[in-house]
Parts: sequence; C-alpha cells; structure tokens
Amino acid sequence: MKRIRIKRSWFLAVSAWAIAAFAAPLDLGKLPLPVPRKVDFEKEVYPIFSEKCISCHGPKKQKGKYRIDTKEEAFKPGAGGSFILPGNSEKSSLIHIVAGLIEEGLMPPPSEKKGESEPLSKEQIGILRSWIDQGAVWPDGPIKEYVKKITFKEDVLPLLVSACASCHGATAQEGDFRVDSRDAILAGGKAYGKVIQPGNVEKSTLLLIVAGKDEDLPQPEKHTLRPKEVELLKNWVQQGAE
Ligand code: HEC
Ligand code: HEC
Repeated sequence: MKRIRIKRSWFLAVSAWAIAAFAAPLDLGKLPLPVPRKVDFEKEVYPIFSEKCISCHGPKKQKGKYRIDTKEEAFKPGAGGSFILPGNSEKSSLIHIVAGLIEEGLMPPPSEKKGESEPLSKEQIGILRSWIDQGAVWPDGPIKEYVKKITFKEDVLPLLVSACASCHGATAQEGDFRVDSRDAILAGGKAYGKVIQPGNVEKSTLLLIVAGKDEDLPQPEKHTLRPKEVELLKNWVQQGAE
C-alpha cells in the first residue's frame, strides 16, 4: 500500500509538471517513433488497451480512477490535464506513461505476474502515437472487439506441439491422440473421440481439457494451458478450426 502511495505522488507531481510546460523534464528523444501509416482504431489500437490496460482501467477496476475502455472515460482529464491530446502524441502523457518516460510511472506497472505487466513494444507505442497524431479518432458507440484470424500453422500448431507433443506426437501417442497435424487433432483420441467440433465452442471438449476443467485425465497439470492460450484455441474453434 505504502509503495503505491509514494508512486502516486511522484507520478502526479511529475505529470502535472510536464503539462505545466516548465523546463521539459522528459526526454522526448527516447520516444519510439509513430508508425508511418494510417492506423485502425478497432483493429490495432483498442486491442492494445484491451490486452494491456483494461484489466486495471476498465469495468472491474479503475486504478488511479482512470478508465480506458470507453471513449468518454479515456479522454477525461486527470489531475494534470487530458492524457490524450489529439494531434499531438509527443505531448500526450499517455505516451510518456507507456514509454516509461515518467519515473516510477510506467504503465502497465512492472510486476512479477507474467503477461499483463510486460511493457508495450516499440511497435505498439508507435501505433498509439500514430493514432493520436492522426486525431485520436474513437468512433461513438460500442466497440466491436476485433479478434485476429487464427491460423493453424502459425498459432495453433506451435502451441500444441510445444505443450503436448512429448506425449501426443511422433514418439508417444497417449490415448491414440496426436497434436502434430490438423487432421490428427480433428480425428481425436481413443476414449474421448472427437475433441474439436469446428465452429462449436461448447462441444469442443479439448477446450475444457486445456482450461483444466476435465477431471478424468491423468496429469492435469500437463493438460492445462495458460488463459491466453485457451482463448487462442477457443477463437480458432470459433473461426472454424481451419
Ligand atoms: C496491473 C494494473 C495496471 C495495468 C495493467 C495498467 N495500469 Fe495504469 N494504473 C495502475 C495504477 C495502480 C495506477 C495508479 C498509479 C499511481 O497513482 O501511482 C495507474 C494509473 C494510470 C494512469 C494515471 C491516472 C491518474 O489520474 O493519475 C494512467 C493514465 C494509466 N494508468 C494508464 C494506463 C495505460 C494506458 C495502461 C495500459 C498500457 C495501464 N495504465 C495499465 C495500474 C495499472
Ligand atoms: C506428460 C504426458 C502428457 C502431456 C504433456 C499431455 N498429455 Fe494428454 N494424455 C496423457 C495421458 C497419459 C492420457 C491418457 C491416455 C489414456 O487414457 O490411455 C492423455 C489423454 C489425452 C486426451 C484424451 C485422448 C483419448 O483417449 O481420447 C486428450 C484429448 C489429451 N490428452 C490432450 C492433451 C493436450 C491438448 C495436451 C497439451 C496441452 C496434452 N494432452 C498433454 C499424457 C499427456
């Protein structure tokens, strides 16, 4: 608790300072450059917020009293003014924050927990910068959550091979189930039969298995994937398991 308080005072002091346009304390030369193309809010920008920010700044939690899941909230000014200045990414404190320019103010905050605490990549910061420079357009109304097209060869196969092929591949075929080709995965196993029904998430028992919800298989820890990986497989099934 105490640490967060210290952080907060730092954070507010410094960002308010920056906005007040005193001698610039921020090294703007360290900012990754905007990507040199038109960016798409729903396909490129919102997914970054969704993956990196909304767990703490959305409907469930509003850390720092800030939300970035709706247009109104995202543009609402904080103590030091608005975090997003349409047309000027270099002066937008949101960019300073995600680029780690503000001491102790990096978002997402570093932590031991994997996934949500990884800093944004240069490319992601570049996308946010271009979006702001191009006017920070955020269409009115609900956002269509954009789900990337999952491909078997690039997304699904490497994941299953690395997690499962030691027991379900060329050297071992527990339960006559193999994960090293799409045909084999769709064929299923000895006891479970088909574990994927393309297009049908409810009937695809593989999703229950990897989510740790099947109690009959041995070695449950070997059968459980991380939430993000389960989500990927779910989207793959939903998109037709092609
Ligand atoms: C794990 C939780 C977590 C994640 C993820 C996270 N934040 Fe934060 N954020 C916080 C906390 C905690 C504070 C309050 C920090 C403080 O006051 O020192 C905060 C404060 C902020 C503030 C300042 C609000 C104010 O009025 O001072 C902004 C802006 C912000 N975050 C943006 C983001 C953005 C953008 C992302 C994603 C790139 C993000 N945060 C991801 C926890 C998180
Ligand atoms: C350490 C070995 C091991 C690993 C790794 C492993 N499994 Fe298994 N799996 C087993 C064993 C043992 C069985 C039970 C075989 C039996 O009953 O004959 C099994 C059974 C299964 C079955 C049921 C097959 C049938 O009988 O119809 C499925 C589906 C399955 N595993 C999927 C997976 C997936 C997906 C992964 C990776 C996320 C995975 N397994 C990782 C050992 C493993």
